[in-house]
Order: sequence, then structure tokens, then C-alpha cells
Amino acid sequence: MVALTGAGISAESGIPTFRGAGGLWRSFRPEELATPGAFRRNPDLVWEWYEWRRGVIAAAQPNAGHFALVELERTKHAFTMATQNVDGLHDLAGSRRIVKLHGDIWIDRCLACGRELVREHAKDTYQHHSEHRCGCGGLLRPGLVWFGEPLPENALSSAEDAVRGADLVLVIGTSAAVYPAAGLVPLARQSGARVIEVNLEETTLSAEVDVSLRGKSGDILPKLIA
Ligand code: OAD
Repeated sequence: MVALTGAGISAESGIPTFRGAGGLWRSFRPEELATPGAFRRNPDLVWEWYEWRRGVIAAAQPNAGHFALVELERTKHAFTMATQNVDGLHDLAGSRRIVKLHGDIWIDRCLACGRELVREHAKDTYQHHSEHRCGCGGLLRPGLVWFGEPLPENALSSAEDAVRGADLVLVIGTSAAVYPAAGLVPLARQSGARVIEVNLEETTLSAEVDVSLRGKSGDILPKLIA
């Protein structure tokens, strides 16, 4: 069994999704901010967005949807969770085996020396871009994946392997608009897995999956898993 999660699973924890109602930060789409080009042009703006997101995430707690997936990991030994989320709420809920397709918002990486710094949840938020400097003097960037960048080594291949071998794939709280992660769903179908979607709204996947459950993942997942 595989679960692929997206921003929707954290919506009930108070973290805004990227698309859909309330999804925009000011008037920017994520595709305008989460790119190497946007950071080159305006690192202050991009850092401001990430620090705002870190602040929101720092105040958030996992919800019933995250906990249901912890239960699934506990009871099914052949279970893989792949998440597009960078918020760390699956970790906080207690999931242990997590394939992080888009990295982790709490990591900074130095553009000069490549060093990675792990920020502490809640404490390490910065008010000003001048503080985003490595010990070597280089500029720090958020260490997660941006549009146009490759996914972390092994993350995509682990998720693909899991999906190829799966009987059942749960697709939870994702618009399935961003590739290559979204490609895991057609791969699952080609590989013969049943696919269940859990989403508040109809998505481009809804017509293609075996079962589409409409509602909040925090309501649906505990019942589904029970
Ligand atoms: P999106 O914001 O694109 O989609 C969120 C989905 O969650 C939508 O389909 C909503 O209908 C659904 N949703 C909202 N609340 C829900 C709830 N309580 N229960 C169930 N579903 C709910 O988020 P992602 O698909 O995760 O990437 O976005 C994919 C990637 O785009 C992100 O990882 C990020 C972003 O740009 C990068 O930054 C590289």
C-alpha cells in the first residue's frame, strides 16, 4: 500500500494549500516564487514567503489525517508514504518511513559552500534576509525543491518502486498538478494498483481513479483506515 499526500492533508492543521481557495500568498502563484530564477531576481521576497510559511507551520499541529497514516504504517509492514509536503507534520505525527519528494522547509542550503543547516522548528525564523548567511559568508537558500529542479536523490525512484509494487494507492489532498510527483498516479494505474482519491474537491484525477472520496482527509482517513 502506498499513500501519496499533498498540501490538502495539512489544510486542517491551518496550513494554506498552494492552489484553490486561500491558496495564494499576496498575489503570487507558487510557480512565481519557488524557482531558482525568482530567488536570483529577488531573494528577499522569496525568503519572506518561506519565513511566513515557516511561521505558519511552526504554529501548526498534525491532524487526524496525519495520525491515520501513522496507524497505517504501524499495521501494514509493506506501506510506503510519499509526500509532496515540506511541512514536517507527518514526522511530527509519528510517521517514520517518509519519502519526501520535495524536501523539507526546515533545511537551509548555502549557495557558496553547499552546506546544509537544519533549522529548529518554531525557533529559527528570521525577520530579515541579511540574516540568511552561512558561516562562510555565502547566501543561504531554502533547501527544498523548486520548480525546474530535480527531486532529492532516490526519493522519486523509491516512490516509483513502491507504486509499481502496490495493490492500493491512496492519493490524498493533492491537486496532482505538479510533476513528476503527479506522474505517480498514472504509473500506479498502469502497474495494476487500485487508486483511491481523498480530496475536498473534484480534481483532474477524479474521473480516472477507482474510488474518489470527497471530503476532508481528517474526517475520511480515520474511517477509511478503521
Ligand atoms: P495544491 O495546493 O495544489 O492542492 C491541494 C489539494 O488539496 C486540492 O486539490 C484541494 O482540493 C485539496 N484539499 C484542501 N483541503 C483539503 C482537506 N481538508 N482534505 C482533503 N483535501 C483537501 O497542493 P499539492 O498538490 O500538494 O511544490 O501541490 C503540489 C506542489 O505544488 C507542492 O508540493 C509545492 C507546490 O508548488 C513545490 O513547492 C515544489
